[in-house]
Amino acid sequence: MSKRNILVTNALPYANGPIHLGHLLGYIQADIWVRFQRMRGNNCSYVCADDAHGTGIMLSAEKAGVSPEEFIDTVNQEHQRDFADFLVDFDIYHSTHSEENRAFSSLIYERCKANGHISQRNITQLYDPEKGLFLSDRFIKGQCPKCKAEDQYGDNCEVCSSTYNATDLINPHSTISGATPIEKESVHFFFKLPDFTDFLKQWTRSGTLPTQVANKLSEWLDSGLQEWDISRDAPYFGFEIPGELGKYFYVWLDAPIGYMASFKKLCESRDDLNFDDYWDKDATTELWHFIGKDIINFHALFWPAMLKTSGFRTPTAISVNGFLTVNGQKMSKSRGTFIMAETYKQHLNPEYLRYYFAAKLSSNPDDLDLNLEDFIQRVNSDVVGKVVNIASRCAGFINKGFDGKLSAEISEPELTSECQQAAAEIAELYEQREFSKAIRLIMSLADKANQYIAEKTPWALAKENPQAVEVQNICSTGLNLFRLLIIYLKPVLPELTKQVEEFLNIPVLQWQDAEHLLLDHPINRFKPLMTRVESTKVDAMVEASKASLNTQGNAQDSTQNNTSENEAAKIDSPLANDPISDEIEFPDFAKIDLRIAKIIKAEYVEGADKLLKITLDLGLNAKGEQQIRTVFSGIKSAYKPEQLNGMYTVLVANLKSRKMKFGVSEGMILAAGEGEDIYLLEPHKGAQAGLRIT
Ligand code: 2FM
Ligand code: ZN
Repeated sequence: MSKRNILVTNALPYANGPIHLGHLLGYIQADIWVRFQRMRGNNCSYVCADDAHGTGIMLSAEKAGVSPEEFIDTVNQEHQRDFADFLVDFDIYHSTHSEENRAFSSLIYERCKANGHISQRNITQLYDPEKGLFLSDRFIKGQCPKCKAEDQYGDNCEVCSSTYNATDLINPHSTISGATPIEKESVHFFFKLPDFTDFLKQWTRSGTLPTQVANKLSEWLDSGLQEWDISRDAPYFGFEIPGELGKYFYVWLDAPIGYMASFKKLCESRDDLNFDDYWDKDATTELWHFIGKDIINFHALFWPAMLKTSGFRTPTAISVNGFLTVNGQKMSKSRGTFIMAETYKQHLNPEYLRYYFAAKLSSNPDDLDLNLEDFIQRVNSDVVGKVVNIASRCAGFINKGFDGKLSAEISEPELTSECQQAAAEIAELYEQREFSKAIRLIMSLADKANQYIAEKTPWALAKENPQAVEVQNICSTGLNLFRLLIIYLKPVLPELTKQVEEFLNIPVLQWQDAEHLLLDHPINRFKPLMTRVESTKVDAMVEASKASLNTQGNAQDSTQNNTSENEAAKIDSPLANDPISDEIEFPDFAKIDLRIAKIIKAEYVEGADKLLKITLDLGLNAKGEQQIRTVFSGIKSAYKPEQLNGMYTVLVANLKSRKMKFGVSEGMILAAGEGEDIYLLEPHKGAQAGLRIT
């Protein structure tokens, strides 16, 4: 097969705060894919940069008492350190505040303009008269025009969820100076996105995006696209628009162009790479963007449209990851689950996290939960208990009894050959970014290898004769199976693999090395490869996260939130109760048919993380027939099935049945809370099944 030439990019993190575990999900996903491609012998370049422009960064620098340039340089170094710590192996980590990016941004803008896709008009915005700054929604707070809640941002209300314009806020104030904003007009420049509707309808359906994402975009495309405001007024930290004094490119205009700029910079230091081969409109190479689900519109609408009209190629594919939750909930400062990369690294091995993410990642943009208990259990049982264990069980006998030499033949050809043949299927799963399926398959092979060793009991044989040929054959077979597993895990666990390469005394492993075995070969002394995850260290990391965020206060979670710019993100507070919802009229409430129901059976659902399957008795209907309902309820984290049997609860009996992945749910039982603190509602003793709640 001929080598593929692939350029991979990761979303560029804002240069306005530290990298946290939510960020790392997308970077680790891309890095695994890149490492896999490289192991396969493909040419795979991997670029990233800091997204260094915008009002937020300008203000953060001011607060820190340094220039924006100094500020972004410091953050850039911290980001590079964090990515290196988590073994994210970029070929280059650049910045959008670079000459390459200035040149491409201007070029693309000029071409868009020459092709008639730029318009300009006056718009009215809120302006901070003290600071002399136009205010984006995130820098304005006031009273919600609808529910009158205090202290709400300029775009939507967190209490009643209504969306509005910042100019509608009651008693607005600038969060920067506290001044009352005034309305002010200025000229803005727009990219005429609607001109590209037909092109985008076709492009988004051409296999470039996950189906779920393409479906969502179709809704937007069908309801009509809007022109995109690509300019911001001075003062702004960014690039001035050519020929337009005091007008700057909006940070999101030059951010994706940063992919090109980074690659251009990389090409300068690499004779084997040619910029045009990857960006020319007729390029035959592949361009893959890995992004989070909150920034799809920028990458799948504006970006391909801009590339198209300015004569560059469009992406081959966009891989989209979901958000990270920790212990089933949004990462939270007070729970200590808003964990910075650096904090994690101080307590735990980054490869644990790489493995856990891989074990749960698919090609779909589904959210991924880092359940810390499950994390400990999974890493210990799989990587340490199943994989590393094979080597530690076999190596000693080879080192001691056979002078470190593997046998010339193996004793279980069927099993080794099964493991070798799995290479093709595992490779296909990696290729499709179905990492969790790949890991499942690898672990099923590890189970077989362990079973083989357990059956052969080399330790018993060695007790009788440590130099018995059989002992050498069994342990050499075990180590060969171990080597194959390590080949398959190398994209996920590169550091562990490096230690194994050293131990097995072999060159850097490639994917095709699975085609042969390691026979009649001297190995080195075995040193412990990976230790177990200790729960005390996980606890210490959570405590440290609580402490560090209390002092930091300005943690950024840009890739987790739909922030339109790089302003400080808000962190939820689990201590506050959810606000009371909007009032409803009694007839609305009366529509809900709430019934007492008796749980007659509760069961686990295979493959479901959160759900239990509950069978309920609703008493007799008018014809005297027993009414039985089945519902799927997300209460597994708080209840074991046996606790529920025989319990009475409340069922929303007239809720339309919903088809779920695991079956049809006929109604909903009522519970309060979340995570481990879920409480099923229970009527007072004596209430009979079927009674209506009035
Ligand atoms: O959402 C964010 O964190 C942005 N900084 C991502 C930019 S990706 C690319 F377009 F640069
Ligand atoms: Zn409100």
